[in-house]
Amino acid sequence: MTDVDSPNRPRVRADLAAMTGYHSPQVSVSVRLNTNESPLGPPDELVKRVAAEAANIAWHRYPDRSASALRQAIGKVMDQPADRIYCANGSNEVLQNLLLTYAGAGRKTLTFEPTYALHSHLSLTTGSITVSEQRDEHFELSVDTAREAVARHRPAVTFLCSPNNPTGVLESRSLVESVLESVEAVGGLLIVDEAYGEFAPWSAIELVDEERSVVVVKTYSKTWAMAGVRLGYLIGPKWLVKEMEAVTLPYHLDSMKQAMGMAALDYQAAMVDRVNAIKDERVRMAARLEQLGCHVWPSAANFILFRPPSSAPQDTWGELVERSVLIRNTSSWNGLEGCLRVTIGSMEENSTFLDALADILGQS
Ligand SMILES: Cc1ncc(COP(=O)(O)O)c(C=O)c1O
Repeated sequence: MTDVDSPNRPRVRADLAAMTGYHSPQVSVSVRLNTNESPLGPPDELVKRVAAEAANIAWHRYPDRSASALRQAIGKVMDQPADRIYCANGSNEVLQNLLLTYAGAGRKTLTFEPTYALHSHLSLTTGSITVSEQRDEHFELSVDTAREAVARHRPAVTFLCSPNNPTGVLESRSLVESVLESVEAVGGLLIVDEAYGEFAPWSAIELVDEERSVVVVKTYSKTWAMAGVRLGYLIGPKWLVKEMEAVTLPYHLDSMKQAMGMAALDYQAAMVDRVNAIKDERVRMAARLEQLGCHVWPSAANFILFRPPSSAPQDTWGELVERSVLIRNTSSWNGLEGCLRVTIGSMEENSTFLDALADILGQS
């Protein structure tokens, strides 16, 4: 018997034993358009400033436990009081801490698939019971489907993702309001994941109120070009932020991260310029993909979901990798048969991708 098979070694929790983990393949290629990151790093001035901030940090001391200055600064930019802001190490950790606080053992979470895989993944790891409903063939969610599902399952937590990953589809304000009403009727919490919210025409932040059971989750990873920093936050009612703080590990946000998160907010104009450039490229890419015969779903995010024409090689994704272009292979995901997702990169990266695809489709 090998050590691995020893009857005395600890076993993974039975409910997690079949889990494979969440991974995006990290392949070495020249053009990486697979994880919806910003094509550019943070502005040079910000990088210099952060280096200077490092010299001012009292490294021997624990960080500000409540991240009060950072929350104040985010609140100022978002036009919200600091006690409505809660921060964690990436929006994934914000989501996990929300589930630890409001879902968990014996409680249900509800997702509308296809959507961001971490919602059901974190439900599982936090011991919640995950229930899922399917979106229609256009990846849209009707008010009736959503309300009926909430009334039937009575979930403690309901997820919406707007714009939705991996489809790019935006939820309308009336849909979100309607789902919120039904969530409140069963005493649940509605989480609106807006990781890509800056690329979209409206935000559910306008629904956040002390009397309402909705939180909006945001990240520095995409628009702020800081995926490597791991910083995310939520905007929610003050009572929720207080309850979350009681559950959160002490000093979970390191001093450097807090300083970087604050410094970045001074470069908002640069961020807005970048968002606008990506939105322009989104229009160009969608038009070219359609011209190449792909089915393209309308995107309000910094990526596009598309299905190559039926004449395309079966492994179009692999053919792209052979041409040193990496996009996300979503073709085996539930409900996304034959679909691929491409991040909007720089103009040059996008052109390389489009030319490679045209070559594969015999249309170069
Ligand atoms: C919808 C959605 N939410 C959250 C995240 C996680 O972002 P973060 O880097 O802030 O953990 C992602 C990352 O791709 C995402 O697509």
